[in-house]
Amino acid sequence: MASNEEQKFQVRKLELSDKRKGFIELLQQLTTCDSVSDKDFEDRFMELQSRAEDHQVFVIEDDRSGKIVATGSVFIERKFIRNCGKVGHIEDVVVDSNARGLHLGKKIINSLTDYAHSVGCYKVILDCSVDNKAFYEKCGYKQKEIQMVKYFI
Ligand SMILES: CC(C)(COP(=O)(O)OP(=O)(O)OC[C@H]1O[C@@H](n2cnc3c(N)ncnc32)[C@H](O)[C@@H]1OP(=O)(O)O)[C@@H](O)C(=O)NCCC(=O)NCCS
Repeated sequence: MASNEEQKFQVRKLELSDKRKGFIELLQQLTTCDSVSDKDFEDRFMELQSRAEDHQVFVIEDDRSGKIVATGSVFIERKFIRNCGKVGHIEDVVVDSNARGLHLGKKIINSLTDYAHSVGCYKVILDCSVDNKAFYEKCGYKQKEIQMVKYFI
C-alpha cells in the first residue's frame, strides 16, 4: 500500500485548472515567464492536448495546499534516422523551492522518462546547468557532448 507521502505527491498530467494552483508561478522559479492570461493559457493547453502523444506536461500537486509543487515536460521528436526512431526531449523541470529535497524532482524525471520509453523513444535527452548535473545523474542520466544555442530574442 502506498505511504501517506506517496499519496500526497502523485504525478499526473497538467490540467486546465492548474493555472489557478500556481503552475505559472512555479515556472517563474525556473526562468523568465511573464504572467499568462487565462485565454492564452487555455489556447496553449488546448494546442498541447491536440498533440498530446508528442508533448506531455506532468505536475505534482500538494494535496494539502492544493498547489502545484513540481513540473516537467517531454517533447517527442519523430526522426528519419534509426529506422524512423523517436527521441524524447525533457524540458522545464522545476520543483517549488519549499518542496526541494523530497525526491519530487526525481519522481517527475522518472515519469517523463517512462513516458518517452513507453511511446517507443530510443533515447531521452535534456540540457542542464553544471550545478544540476549530479541531480540528473541520480536520475540515471549521464553527460554526453555539449549544447549549442542561438537565441532569436
Ligand atoms: C533541480 C531540481 C529540479 C531538483 O529537484 P528536487 O526535488 O529538489 O530533487 P530530488 O529531491 O528529487 O533529488 C534527487 C537526488 O538528487 C540530489 N540532488 C538534487 N539536486 C541536486 C544538486 N543540485 N546537486 C547535487 N545533488 C542534487 C538529491 O540530494 C537526491 O539525492 P538522493 O537520491 O541520494 O537522496 C530543483 O532543485 C529545482 O527545481 N531547481 C531549480 C530549477 C532548476 O534548476 N531546474 C532544472 C532545470 S535543468
